[in-house]
Amino acid sequence: MSFPVELLVVAIDGPAGSGKSTVARMLAAELGIQYLDTGAMYRAVTFAVLAQGLEPDDVDEVAELARSIDFDVAADGTVTVEGVDATTQIRGPAVTRAVSEVAAVEAVRLELVSRQREWARLRGGGVLEGRDIGSVVFPDARLKVYLTARAEVRAARRAGEVSDLNYDEVAADIARRDAFDQGRKVDPLRRADGAIELDTSDLTIDEVVAILADQVRQTDVG
Ligand code: DC
Repeated sequence: MSFPVELLVVAIDGPAGSGKSTVARMLAAELGIQYLDTGAMYRAVTFAVLAQGLEPDDVDEVAELARSIDFDVAADGTVTVEGVDATTQIRGPAVTRAVSEVAAVEAVRLELVSRQREWARLRGGGVLEGRDIGSVVFPDARLKVYLTARAEVRAARRAGEVSDLNYDEVAADIARRDAFDQGRKVDPLRRADGAIELDTSDLTIDEVVAILADQVRQTDVG
């Protein structure tokens, strides 16, 4: 008889600029497991939507595209869509403007959640970061984390990631996306039941990673 092997999944959710990506990548390295940026998957679908000239609110066509498209989010952050490198474009203003609307389409979410579960199953687990990992994708994750930071800290971090971004525009964009992601009907951003909440505003990345690595080790009862 074969028993299902328990996956070692760490679920990290939180709003834009809360430190999720950097923390998740470093925590995965520390634990010796893989890392998945699920936001990059929503961005890859949005890139394809725009490249094909679809409107983000063409729900049926967008859903069909999400189901049929071939894309890959690699461990080093490279994102390819239908074999084309889209790593830079998925972070650009056009995709960033449209992504929340595409991510609100229920059929898109169903498809990407299923791809995320499969990704983890094939690897025996991993650190996954996004908006609904602890609440929907892996409600039974070994550790669930909800990262936050004060709004002005989050905007300053995002503006600092890309040198030609203006702080006020970034702050406005983050506020708009937070409201949309938290207010949408399907799987809104929220702290999952059982998730630990950590405000990263006054912590270094190394401190956050050390706290979370400790938490994961405490769950490992052998
Ligand atoms: O983390 P990010 O900014 O790259 O995410 C892009 C968008 O994708 C964000 O506005 C919300 C959405 N998203 C989501 O709805 N669910 C996820 N698991 C990850 C991202």
